[in-house]
Order: sequence, then C-alpha cells, then structure tokens
Amino acid sequence: MRHLTIAHLTVVATVFLAGCGGGKNAPADSSSGSADTAASTDSKKSTKVTLGTDELTSGIPGSGPLKVTEVKAWLADDSNHRTLEVTLPLGLSAGQDSIKGLDENPLTRAKIELGRQLYFDGRLSSDGTISCADCHHPDEGYTRQTQFGIGVDDQEGDRNSPVSYNRILSDAQFWDGRAATLEEQAVGPIANPIEMANTHENAVKTLKEIEGYRLQFEKIFDDGVTIDNVGKAIAAFERTIVTGPSPFDYYEPVRQMRASIGEDLDDLEELKEEDPELVAKYEAALAESERHPMSESAIRGRELFFGNRGQCTACHVGPNLTDEKYHNLGVGMDAENPDHGRRKHTGKEEHTGAFKTPTIRNVALTAPYMHDGSQKTLEEVVEWYDRGGHPNDHLSKDIRKLDLSDQDKKDLVEFMKACTGEFTPVERERLPE
Ligand code: HEC
Ligand code: HEC
Repeated sequence: MRHLTIAHLTVVATVFLAGCGGGKNAPADSSSGSADTAASTDSKKSTKVTLGTDELTSGIPGSGPLKVTEVKAWLADDSNHRTLEVTLPLGLSAGQDSIKGLDENPLTRAKIELGRQLYFDGRLSSDGTISCADCHHPDEGYTRQTQFGIGVDDQEGDRNSPVSYNRILSDAQFWDGRAATLEEQAVGPIANPIEMANTHENAVKTLKEIEGYRLQFEKIFDDGVTIDNVGKAIAAFERTIVTGPSPFDYYEPVRQMRASIGEDLDDLEELKEEDPELVAKYEAALAESERHPMSESAIRGRELFFGNRGQCTACHVGPNLTDEKYHNLGVGMDAENPDHGRRKHTGKEEHTGAFKTPTIRNVALTAPYMHDGSQKTLEEVVEWYDRGGHPNDHLSKDIRKLDLSDQDKKDLVEFMKACTGEFTPVERERLPE
C-alpha cells in the first residue's frame, strides 16, 4: 500500500514537469507575438496526412511545460482546426476503406494534440499519478509488460492491458467488446476504481481549472470541457497511433507478383523484353523487401500462418491481422472461477470464455499474452495452439491440435516477429502547466 500525502503529490508533479521538454521540438515561432490577443493566423498546413510519422503527434512546438501563450498561439492557427483526410501506411493501407469513427469524430490537428496531452496526463486520475500511458506505454508496445494493469494505489486488475494502437481499424473495444466505440472506451478507465479511480465530474473539474486545457476544449468543441469531449480527444489521438510497414508488408507485393507471374520470372531478361514495366515493378518491390528482409524461417512461418496447417488466419485476418470477433481458445478456462469474457457483456451462453482476437502487428513488443496475461512468450503461445488450446464446452471449432514440428513452431514465431513495424513517434512530456 502506497501512502500519498499532498506534499508527496506536489513533489511528484514538480519532478514530472521539470522533466519536460525533451528538447526535440523546434522552438516556438517567436513571431507569433499575437498569441495573447489570439488574432487568427493560418500556417496553411496540409489537410492530407499519411499516418505513422510524428507530424500530428510531436506536440505544440517549443519545450518544457506547455505555456498558456503557446496554447493560444496554437489555437489561433486556423490550419490546426481543419478536418484531416488520413491515409494509412503500407500494410495497414489495405484497410483504408474500413477506417472507423472519423465521420462521427473528425480528426483535426488541434483535437489530436489535445488527446495526446490527456493520454499522458496523470492529472486525470484521482491522485494525479496514473495516466493512460501507465498501462499502454509507447516504450512497452502501448501495453504494459505486467500480467495485469496496475492502477492507483498499486491496485491490480484481472485482465492484461491490450494494445492501444491501430485503433483506427477497430470499433468495439475491450477484450469482451463492451465499449461500442473508442470514444466510449476512453472515458472508462478514468472512473474505474482500480485504474484511474477518479469520477468523471472530478476529472472535468480538474481540467477546467487548468487554463491551457480549458482554452483548448473551448476552441475545439462547442460545449467546452465535458467528459464526452475528453473521450473524443483521446480517441482522435489514439487513431493516429499506428504500426508502420513491417518486413512482412514489404515482402507481400514480392510474393504476390511471384505467384501471379509464375515461372516467367525464371528468365527475367526475356520477361523484360516482353513487359519492361512489370519487371521494373517487381525489381523495385524486391529491392524494398531486401532492405527490410524477411528471413527464410519467417517466410515459412507465413505459409503456416496463412495456410491450412496453422490456420491462424481463420481469426487473425485482414489488414490489422484480426477479425475483431470473439473466440474461446480455452485460456483461463481451467481456473476455479473462469473469466466468462464476451458472455459477461452479452449474457449469451455460447459466448462463454470468448475474447476479442488481438492484432498480430507488433505483437513481439506486447508480452505477456492473452486476456489474462498468462503466456509469457510467443513460443508459449504457439505451444498452446499446437496442443489445440484447452478443451472446454465452448472451445472454438477453429482450434484443434496442429502437430507442428519444432522447426514449424520456430518459423511461426519468426513470422510474427516479422510483423513488427515502427510506431508513430509521439511526444510524451509536453503538457499544459
Ligand atoms: C491501470 C491500467 C490501465 C489504465 C490506467 C488504462 N488502461 Fe486501458 N486497458 C487496461 C486493461 C486491463 C484493459 C482491458 C480491460 C478489459 O478488456 O476488460 C484496457 C483496455 C483498453 C483499450 C481496449 C483495446 C482493445 O483492444 O479493445 C483501449 C483502447 C484502452 N484501454 C485505452 C486506454 C486509455 C485511452 C486510457 C486512459 C484514459 C487507459 N486505457 C487507461 C488497463 C488500463
Ligand atoms: C479461433 C480463432 C483463432 C485462431 C484460429 C488463432 N487465434 Fe490467436 N488469438 C485468438 C484470440 C481470441 C486470442 C485471445 C484469446 C484470449 O486471450 O483468451 C488470440 C491470441 C493470440 C496471441 C496473443 C496476442 C496478445 O496480444 O495477447 C497470439 C500471439 C496469437 N493469438 C497467435 C496465433 C497464431 C500463431 C495462430 C495460428 C497457429 C492463431 N493465433 C490462431 C484467436 C485465434
């Protein structure tokens, strides 16, 4: 049990703020002396953005705690309030037509930046210590490398923190899908007694008292600081956190062209005479893939993952390598009081022990695994599938013994590691003073 006194809290806050300003941002534009009068400006930033770079998430320019004058100058820039059209990076890009939530909650630079601040701000919790990032940290794959989430007063939950990236392709949230949208999900932890242990009223009150926040909410939303708007801003930020291209994604075009061109590839010179454009395309894809290589083992693992023997794509399918559906693999079903998962939300017997399929993208960075964090490594996960999960009345019909060799198991793990791409770089420390 940790005892937090007011004095202790002040120290935490001071140390935290003093630690701000990683110094990687360019200094604030000193010509925007109009900040205090907040005369509107227009820096004409583009409204078309490809996600995955730090363009939307590097914070308001400057360093150290965010000053009110800097917030005003930022808000006065009209181009921070225009609705953005986003494109997904290679790999996720196959999901461009199934992006979620942007009609209901359009993305703007200012809203994303406000969400970034809220995501990293412990002041949303009851004692000022726990932020979203505490359980979904960029350095720990946007999860936490503990079995369960650890909230205010070191309280432990009973589920593993899932990832908060690639949410732009996902609508229902939580292991059991009980939040219909990312917006609805985002306000849950604030009032969860074992997570941020606050009330929504108190969180709103705290934000209203911080001028830098109040000004942003009032400019971005018609109705200022409300808990729904907190959810909208955080969700907007989360939608910009994506996984960039992985060796798997660079290899896909090569594999597809090899499959469609077939044996004509054996004589590239001859093919070049017939169809120079096709060969140029193939060679370009090959060069990219060689710059981000998939090992032979990972390539074999890919065949297992997508093929009939592994059949992983019965569930881990689509651009984010998840069907976004709920299945029972038997994880935790041997416990005295098993977590009923999806059934807790729907009340349906057939949903007993079913949990939402997690993404395989960047999964090498998100140990431990499964809804109860019971499996420590990808090797352990593959063993689980090889044995056919844990038998129980509700086991998915797509889970069965696989009879994999030791090499097959290594190959599957290698393939999953090859699904690792760079995360959107994010400023973590610049928060309103
Ligand atoms: C104390 C740890 C903790 C804190 C703090 C926390 N989370 Fe979580 N988060 C979890 C756990 C555990 C789950 C899974 C709970 C469940 O499914 O029942 C979860 C689920 C989620 C999910 C669902 C992902 C999916 O695949 O369905 C998202 C998104 C998320 N959290 C974002 C946030 C945001 C945003 C905040 C801050 C407002 C936050 N979390 C604060 C531990 C935490
Ligand atoms: C029937 C659907 C289904 C099939 C088939 C399937 N998975 Fe899963 N996978 C899931 C679900 C659902 C979970 C989460 C289960 C839980 O926590 O109870 C999961 C969890 C995982 C995890 C842990 C991810 C995390 O973040 O915790 C990995 C890794 C994984 N699967 C890899 C594979 C591989 C490799 C295969 C093929 C051998 C495979 N899966 C086949 C549905 C499936």
